[in-house]
Amino acid sequence: MKPLIIANWKCHPTTLIEAKGLFNSVKKGIKDLKNVEIVICPPFVFLPFLKSKIGSQDCFWGESGAFTGEISPKMLKNLGCEYVIIGHSERRRYQKETDEIINKKLKAAISSGLKPILCIESLAQLKKGLKGIAKKVIIAYEPVFAIGTGKPCSPEKARKMRKAIKYPVVLYGGSVNSQNAVNYIKEAGFQGLLVGGASLNPKEFIALAKNIDFISKKR
Ligand code: 13P
Repeated sequence: MKPLIIANWKCHPTTLIEAKGLFNSVKKGIKDLKNVEIVICPPFVFLPFLKSKIGSQDCFWGESGAFTGEISPKMLKNLGCEYVIIGHSERRRYQKETDEIINKKLKAAISSGLKPILCIESLAQLKKGLKGIAKKVIIAYEPVFAIGTGKPCSPEKARKMRKAIKYPVVLYGGSVNSQNAVNYIKEAGFQGLLVGGASLNPKEFIALAKNIDFISKKR
């Protein structure tokens, strides 16, 4: 498979004009890359306006009903979303999402036909999140100390975790940039990357995507 690069915009930007600008710059910059798969995950409100490979940063565990404020996987699928990030450490921390909630969200996403990306930082979270799920979902290993800190996990340490996660597709996330991205694929053995901060800077994100495309072409 081609390396998978997921751009997690988190809670940015604050206007539709900026979102479209960022999206279009990235789209233009990556249009000739044939050896990577790139998915943009903007905030929910921008999803209907960004046409291309998109994913969402979260979803609800039900299909529809009296659940004020929730966005269901079915709605996302019907909107053209292909992927959904589930169990990000920021949601575990600020929205108090538990492994049980994350497990329900994963099941709902799978039954709606979305491709879920389960974020974990430990093997315990992996096990609990996947309870009762036979399907091989995409896993993203994101050590909390590396998220948004500019202090990425060393490729050696990441490699150990990659080996321990016995899943076919595992992404690395945490302070990934155009300079260090290749290490996680080549040295640490990951199948892709989950990129936060660097995905908000089109120049940096395009450079990152090009670097991964380049090594993927050579393999
Ligand atoms: P940063 O790339 O900003 O460290 O964020 C990582 C992340 O949380 C991606 O989901």
